[in-house]
Amino acid sequence: MFKKLTLAALTALGLGTGAFAAGATPHVEDFAFPFEGPFGKYDQMQLQRGLKIFTEVCSACHGLKYVPIRDLAALGYNEDQLFAYASQLQVWDRTLNGGEGDFREAVPADKFPANTGAGAPDLSLMAKSRAGFHGPYGLGINQFVKGMGGPEYIASLLTGYHEAPECAPEDFPGSYNAVFAVGGYPEECKDEHGNHTVPGSWIAMGQPLMGEDVDFDDGHSNSLHHEAQDVAAFLMWAAEPKLNQRKEAGFIGVFFLLILSVLLYLVNKRIWAPIKRKH
Ligand code: HEC
Repeated sequence: MFKKLTLAALTALGLGTGAFAAGATPHVEDFAFPFEGPFGKYDQMQLQRGLKIFTEVCSACHGLKYVPIRDLAALGYNEDQLFAYASQLQVWDRTLNGGEGDFREAVPADKFPANTGAGAPDLSLMAKSRAGFHGPYGLGINQFVKGMGGPEYIASLLTGYHEAPECAPEDFPGSYNAVFAVGGYPEECKDEHGNHTVPGSWIAMGQPLMGEDVDFDDGHSNSLHHEAQDVAAFLMWAAEPKLNQRKEAGFIGVFFLLILSVLLYLVNKRIWAPIKRKH
């Protein structure tokens, strides 16, 4: 049973490795996020910076349709700020216009608008649906140590745009990204066995961040690397807003189990005491 389970787990965790095995493996950088590890927590200032990038850049194409705007209170905003933020957004309301539906100004009780860009996926759960690291085995890349790496994948994707390699035809559609694994790939960049000779592939999203795209109120660096990391942290929060609470509940659980263990030990000793004394 145990053996079967481990095998299944190994296969499940390792699935992604197979997808990359054919080509030069994309490199996902191990960004250090404050919410990593058992004691890690979200950094409100980082989430605020990430929200700003999302609002000013990504929301031109991407939606966050599962995230209620009022949840932004967790980033430290008060009610007035939430109303002010929501009022810049337009949401579709199907009760308007005699049942035909129309756009209206959002309020905090609404969810973020859905996608507007053609082919741009919704980002609500993106940080949880992509893995940056694969497998408990192989080349030291290890989900057990580094985690799934969803936010690392997003940050690496945003910093993964490079000039297209020489093997590619000039008019090949999309932008070359060394981290994006599932996009178009020109035949010219494959070797005689069909293996990819350059990592990554061509993505339909043009490079969205160049560095210095937004100015942060807290004076934090707006280099490409930092912007990518901050927006990835924000998307992790969007996908798992209760991470802080989940970890706290875990600690309380472990604490109670420890007390319970001590009590059980003492009870056990007491129950056996009369019998043990006879010998
Ligand atoms: C001009 C429109 C546009 C903007 C702006 C834009 N994106 Fe995209 N994005 C797209 C499209 C289109 C795709 C689908 C690409 C594909 O599948 O080839 C995409 C895909 C993605 C993906 C999924 C990649 C994958 O593994 O499937 C992520 C993550 C992403 N975008 C994040 C962002 C972030 C973060 C920003 C803001 C910094 C942003 N995007 C800004 C259009 C955009």
